[in-house]
Amino acid sequence: MKRYHSLVELSKEHHDGLILAQILKKGAPAYRDLPADAEGKRKYALQLYQDNLVRHFYKEEKILMPFCSGISTELDELFQRMLEEHKQLEKLFNFLKDENNYENVMYEIGKLLDEHIRMEERELFELIQNQMGEEKLSLLSHKLRG
Ligand SMILES: [Fe+2]
Ligand SMILES: [Fe+2]
Repeated sequence: MKRYHSLVELSKEHHDGLILAQILKKGAPAYRDLPADAEGKRKYALQLYQDNLVRHFYKEEKILMPFCSGISTELDELFQRMLEEHKQLEKLFNFLKDENNYENVMYEIGKLLDEHIRMEERELFELIQNQMGEEKLSLLSHKLRG
């Protein structure tokens, strides 16, 4: 789907998140040069979380959400869902730091991260593009670039 330049960067970041989600799912096949064993996947997931996802969530919560709030109830509800899922994911990634019994946590992250990103791409970002004017969208790119 076509993305306004203001949301392109966030959409690109989603790509790595979706790949992570795929490899964490139960019975996932090996993917390119990414780890195929449970311990390798755990480490890769924690690394990607620290290096990319924390900052990604921050941009969505502290820049995107305040900028796009109050435009419609529909949009505000999706932002609430986004916040709740970020909290849940944060909790799950923290559980993943525990070196025991992390396999079920990995499966849960895989499922939730996948659903979360698809919701943002298919619903949240679509609504933002449809409900905000060109001018506001271009202002948003400046904010997101910081
Ligand atoms: Fe998000
Ligand atoms: Fe996102």
